Amino acid sequence: MEIFRALKNFKPQIGLVILLTFGNALGELFLPRLMSLVVDTGVAKGDTDYILKMGLIMIVVVILTVLCRGSAAYYSSKVTMAYSADLRHDLFSKINQLTVNETEYFGISSLITRTTDDVNQVEQMVLMGLRPLVRGPLMFVGGLIMALTTNLRLSLVFPITIPFIGLGIYYVIKSALPFFPILQKRLDNLNQLFRRRLRGIRVTRAFSRDDLEEDIFRQANQDYYEIALKVNKIIINVIPILGIFLNVALVFVMYFGARLIDQNQLAVGELMAFIQYITQVLMALIMLSFLITMIPRTWASMVRINEVLDYPVHEIEGDESFQGPMEKLEAKNLTFSYPQAKRPVLNQVNFSLEKGQTLGIIGGTGSGKSTLLRLLLKFYKPTGGQILVDGQDIQDLKTEDMRREMSYVPQKNFFFSKSVKDNLLYSNQDASDEDLREALSQAEALEFLGENPLNEEMNRGGENFSGGQRQRLAIARALNRQASLYLFDDSFSALDYVTDRKVRQGLVEKTQEAMVVIVGQRVATIRHADKILVLEAGEVVGYGSHDDLLRESPVYREIALSQGEVVDHEE
Ligand SMILES: Nc1ncnc2c1ncn2[C@@H]1O[C@H](COP(=O)(O)OP(=O)(O)OP(=O)(O)O)[C@@H](O)[C@H]1O
Ligand SMILES: [Mg+2]
Repeated sequence: MEIFRALKNFKPQIGLVILLTFGNALGELFLPRLMSLVVDTGVAKGDTDYILKMGLIMIVVVILTVLCRGSAAYYSSKVTMAYSADLRHDLFSKINQLTVNETEYFGISSLITRTTDDVNQVEQMVLMGLRPLVRGPLMFVGGLIMALTTNLRLSLVFPITIPFIGLGIYYVIKSALPFFPILQKRLDNLNQLFRRRLRGIRVTRAFSRDDLEEDIFRQANQDYYEIALKVNKIIINVIPILGIFLNVALVFVMYFGARLIDQNQLAVGELMAFIQYITQVLMALIMLSFLITMIPRTWASMVRINEVLDYPVHEIEGDESFQGPMEKLEAKNLTFSYPQAKRPVLNQVNFSLEKGQTLGIIGGTGSGKSTLLRLLLKFYKPTGGQILVDGQDIQDLKTEDMRREMSYVPQKNFFFSKSVKDNLLYSNQDASDEDLREALSQAEALEFLGENPLNEEMNRGGENFSGGQRQRLAIARALNRQASLYLFDDSFSALDYVTDRKVRQGLVEKTQEAMVVIVGQRVATIRHADKILVLEAGEVVGYGSHDDLLRESPVYREIALSQGEVVDHEE
């Protein structure tokens, strides 16, 4: 499993923890024996020298034991924390490699739970389990040997008690095990609902659906509560039962031990030692049983973490490096279906574009325009056909190299809660303040930004700006990068006609040497493009210049007519 790989990095430290725990267990096993010698040889015969000598040895053993125990604890927490940090890091970088599709497959909430709660679960297990896991078996076997060598007949108590304790452990594992994966799933669900509640707050409020949301959340919370309660009940019930077994065993030992002493077959010190050994052995068993109850729960978390770590990255990361600029872009019979979708979102799409040219894409909602841009960005892998850049299939190119040559304005804008400057620098870190101002000016964004445009804060991901203002900031961010392919996904829809035209003029200056793909709902936005692609339900129903399309494509003509774009404004 991928999840254990990170643990391998800590072999030496884990070895040290095992060694120290070994020393600790050894010390604890020998102390009762030393004590029995003090009682039976020293006290019984009144040999003060012997008592002092043994006392001194005991002090040394205690000091060594404590030292071993302390440093084992220290190193095991060190290892654990480093391990869980590694695990989080591995998860994070793996998630970064997933395609958008794959992220959707896991679900964002689930990915968050896996990186936080599941990692915590594993961390707790390693932290609490590493030492007991070594100590438990040692104390069990060691204690047994010591008890057997102390008194064979008293040791009969073990075969009588151990099966009962084993039964208790078996019961816990059998009854609690199936619940753990469900528990984590319900936690996922809770997180997801919480996210949805917060993100959808405006819609919820506007339609007065707070009660509904509250009910859904309450139900999910209740579901989680019930199953968590069930699991904990099972575990909690077993603790007192195991305690009873331990104490009954002790009573037996004392009763029969006293009789053996009466018959002169056992010394007082030996009985004292024996009582300590039986406690050690049974406690070790109980401790191990708790660890075992933790294992299934942790196992569920480990499987979830591992699912992400082991997930084969489908994104075709090409091997060939690509040095820009891009000079030619072609789509050949490009076809794409989202997973689980019945029909393709794009079907046999063809177009080609050269340096300095603009491609306009128009079509009804859901016709596949945004999907086409996402394919160009390699967010998804085409299900058929090819996208070629300078004659090379983009699946063969290194994704990072390719994306470095592109600049993108998504349909749904996203900003960080930082200053305008930091948000713009996201597309190009090396830009000077002067460059940034120019990009803002080209995107017509200076007019609403005030005296110090770069220092304006974008709060809560830019929600302190209007939709049209955010679009212009997103355009400025895209223009701030020197790319050879610019992609604008419906980036002008919220702009009024005048601003739309001005921004497109700014764009022309910046993108003269590049290729530009503009998705638009308005004919005015794309009519000046060198080529226009008309999409309808994923099919190309027109491809050519504005004038060609007016003549040849009934769909385009209808759109243009409905928008009053058949007469040329600029005449
Ligand atoms: N992540 C997704 N998973 C599954 N189906 C999707 C996904 N995104 C989009 N679709 C489907 O693909 C089709 C095309 O969507 P797309 O976003 O490309 O349309 P569009 O032309 O950009 O529409 P709009 O003009 O409304 O932005 C739609 O029918 C939509 O239901
Ligand atoms: Mg779209």
